[in-house]
Amino acid sequence: MHLAKAHEFWSSHVKPGDHIIDATCGNGHDALFLANLSPGSLHLFDIQPEALAATHHRLFHLKDLNAHYYLASHENFPELPPISLIVYNLGYLPTANKAITTCTSSTLRSIKSALTLLKPGGMITITCYPGHLEGEDESNALKKFIPTLSNCESYTYFFTNNLKNPFLIKIIKIN
Ligand SMILES: C[S@@+](CC[C@H](N)C(=O)[O-])C[C@H]1O[C@@H](n2cnc3c(N)ncnc32)[C@H](O)[C@@H]1O
Repeated sequence: MHLAKAHEFWSSHVKPGDHIIDATCGNGHDALFLANLSPGSLHLFDIQPEALAATHHRLFHLKDLNAHYYLASHENFPELPPISLIVYNLGYLPTANKAITTCTSSTLRSIKSALTLLKPGGMITITCYPGHLEGEDESNALKKFIPTLSNCESYTYFFTNNLKNPFLIKIIKIN
């Protein structure tokens, strides 16, 4: 559900030429979907070299894609053009060390920083995984943190009959 919903939001929001950040590019599945929306640029972050390599491998055939790879935490976004969409898919890389996972403090710092890069009307989506320990802490922190953001509209999409399932947060920066 969360993935189909995220795809729906990304497709209806992004216009050709928009600038996009994938803040946790992992194996590049999300990045491939985003790359096919004809962005002006796609900025890909991950802290694991194998994640960037996997993403690069997946996008390599898209010769017209203006892709930028950053082996860096998403806490430290560089200066970038006004961004239309920032995508977080939290948690760990399924094919790697599951101890290397996004964590609450850096994720919250990153979202604050993301909001400064986002253009008015821009969107952030965050896929959260409360089914593992660090993910549960991160999900609970996000549920408290997101409603405190000013100048934003935010929405959460979750299964009412299984609160351990992944869920999706969407944030729209008003102006
Ligand atoms: C669930 S995976 C992402 C899946 C990916 N979007 C895809 O489509 O394959 C989460 C990723 O977040 C990365 N990660 C963890 N902490 C991070 C951080 N502080 N900054 C950027 N990436 C981070 C992990 O290395 C992992 O690759």
